[in-house]
Amino acid sequence: MSHTAVILAAGKGTRMKSDLPKVMHPIAGRTMLSWVIDAVQATDPERVVVVVGYEADRVVSSLPDGVEHCVQIEQHGTGHAVSVALEHLGAVEGDVLVLPGDTPLIGGDDLQRLLDEHRSEHNATTVLTAVVDDPHGYGRIVRDGDGHVTAIVEQSDADAETDAISEINAGMYVFDAVELTEDIATLQAGNAQGEYYLTDVVAAVVARGHTVGVVAADPDSVMGVNTHRHLAAAAALLRERINGQLMDAGVHMEDPSTVYIDSGVVVEPGASLRSNVHLTSGTVVEAGAVVGPDVSADATSIGSGAKVWYAVLRGARVGAGAEVGPYVSLRPDAELGEGSKAGTFVEIKKSVIGRGAKVPHLSYIGDATIGARSNIGAGTITVNYNGFEKFRTEIGEDVKIGSDTMLVAPVAVGDRAMTAAGSVITEDVEADAMAFGRARQVNKPGLAARLRARYRGDSAQ
Ligand code: UD1
Ligand code: CA
Repeated sequence: MSHTAVILAAGKGTRMKSDLPKVMHPIAGRTMLSWVIDAVQATDPERVVVVVGYEADRVVSSLPDGVEHCVQIEQHGTGHAVSVALEHLGAVEGDVLVLPGDTPLIGGDDLQRLLDEHRSEHNATTVLTAVVDDPHGYGRIVRDGDGHVTAIVEQSDADAETDAISEINAGMYVFDAVELTEDIATLQAGNAQGEYYLTDVVAAVVARGHTVGVVAADPDSVMGVNTHRHLAAAAALLRERINGQLMDAGVHMEDPSTVYIDSGVVVEPGASLRSNVHLTSGTVVEAGAVVGPDVSADATSIGSGAKVWYAVLRGARVGAGAEVGPYVSLRPDAELGEGSKAGTFVEIKKSVIGRGAKVPHLSYIGDATIGARSNIGAGTITVNYNGFEKFRTEIGEDVKIGSDTMLVAPVAVGDRAMTAAGSVITEDVEADAMAFGRARQVNKPGLAARLRARYRGDSAQ
């Protein structure tokens, strides 16, 4: 038997004090809403509808194919949001799973348990709850003397006795569609917030003599995010989860509390992550690579056995056994061959560094190809831009570029050629040649002494 899922995501998230709709705030590299959608999809619903409102276009454009939406123009509460969804769904029947879009830690397994319990017990309604240390801010589960759920009371409507209840409403429920439609119509906004609360449906179900089922969840997985403090706490929990799974799979982490890995990043077993490592969307770290301390890598692949430390990598490819850092910036399409090196204070973009080639110190390499085993002397720069256009530098294999060479592109240096230190290379250099592109040195004997005498009045040296 399948079900329909409704995700509530129309609110602004006033407590975030941000113009970004709350559910669009990212956590581990994806929006909160996308994590919730994933959990819902794992239960294989027939239809998924997201209720949008504040900045609706922005939220809608983030939705994956196949997920429907409806617009709650004014946000009069979670009950009102569900009534908008029911109207959109038309004559829907069967089980309806309802949940908020601000609970990014929820898993498909929790939702499946909720659905299973609802079906096996034939409850009129089943609620996901958790017993938490700090229930403040959540709706509380009120039970009668026999332990049956009688109502959910919101924080702002709670008296001292209700406030002391530590069992909270996770905001996730399974309803019968037809009954839900009837009960929603009876909701009143006579509460502290003047809103139509979905939570009041529970009391309505009980009033009709039906039972409300309960499924208990782990407090962490139902955590709702209303503030930046909550967002940071949820991100920390998610990080613990992601890092824990990777360590279980065989990834070494020196200090997982400082390792930040986004969803979709691949770290192979046998890789080692040292402290302060951020790996974001599209990054792959192969087995045997050692990454960190202090590395930020986005959409970058790091080959097996490579060593990367104190570096920022964006859209780069680091070959097996290559060495990167310290203090390196690899920009999009920097491609480092096997066993190559980008050393201290080096920036590389849109360039191919051949197998075993080395750029050890203080260089900018842009729009260049460097052949295998070539060595680029300290301070070398590819002068790739004339202020209007960019040009390429082609360097062959086994080339030795002298320190402080300016390679004024377009320019090519042939295999096994050399450039003298301090050269400004404006013309191509053929294979096996040595290029000097600098002024000849002139020594003037005694001139230093004469100058000293003139300016200081010294007679001798
Ligand atoms: C809600 C529950 C509370 C529960 C908590 C769990 C109600 C009245 N309260 O409180 O019992 O413990 O979630 O996290 O349901 N939304 C709309 N339209 C609206 C109002 C809200 O779509 O008119 C959406 C929000 O965007 C959000 C979700 O519903 O994604 C929950 O709203 P929020 O204001 O965060 O409710 P809580 O106060 O957290
Ligand atoms: Ca909330």
